[in-house]
Amino acid sequence: MLTDNNNLKPNEEADNRMNGKPASQPALKVVGGASEYQKREIPSDDNKRLYRDALGKFATGVTVITARTEHGPVGMTANSFASVSLDPALVLWSVDKSSGRYEVFRDAKHFAIHILREDQSELALDFAKNADAFSNCEWRDNEYGVPLLRHSLARFECALETTHDGGDHTIIIGRVIGFSKQEGNSLVFASGEFGAFAAINK
Ligand SMILES: Cc1cc2nc3c(=O)[nH]c(=O)nc-3n(C[C@H](O)[C@H](O)[C@H](O)COP(=O)(O)O)c2cc1C
Repeated sequence: MLTDNNNLKPNEEADNRMNGKPASQPALKVVGGASEYQKREIPSDDNKRLYRDALGKFATGVTVITARTEHGPVGMTANSFASVSLDPALVLWSVDKSSGRYEVFRDAKHFAIHILREDQSELALDFAKNADAFSNCEWRDNEYGVPLLRHSLARFECALETTHDGGDHTIIIGRVIGFSKQEGNSLVFASGEFGAFAAINK
């Protein structure tokens, strides 16, 4: 953890260094003081909670990702989903190497990503706790044996494109081979809590 001296504090000297000018000629107008800047922390073992809390300020949607194993269907709640490319249609999510379901999802040649509706937080919790939470919802297999949940806001059926090492996660990139979309509002996850999306009306 850094001390106060290491705050992101704008000062004349730094401004001038950035602009290659001597300290006597301020080049940038500094508005306000150091108090306007948030304290800088460096991710370490001492501030893991704080780091996760900071990441949690990024509100995401919530997905359930499904795949087929020789032992049956598996699912996992994930909020690391993102679109990568429109043409070709590529999406990504990342799977925690410490998860009991890691190998299954890393190795799955096909999988499906379901974007959850605002009223599906229980399903999200079910699939976070249990890879085999299919008894709580309606589903059927696609032609690759991938379980497709009947109810979701949007669904992306994927073929594995590639995987990348990402520290304690593996980044999985899928090529979208089919998708569907329903009307409704997204389930949102922020600061460790589920919520519903509300548009700001201007
Ligand atoms: C809202 C939410 C988002 C999650 N996102 C991810 C994710 O993107 N990647 C991941 O590996 N695990 C994610 N998890 C955790 C998994 O759903 C699951 O709980 C974890 O892999 C533990 O599985 P295990 O009990 O089989 O080890 C998320 C959990 C929740 C509740």
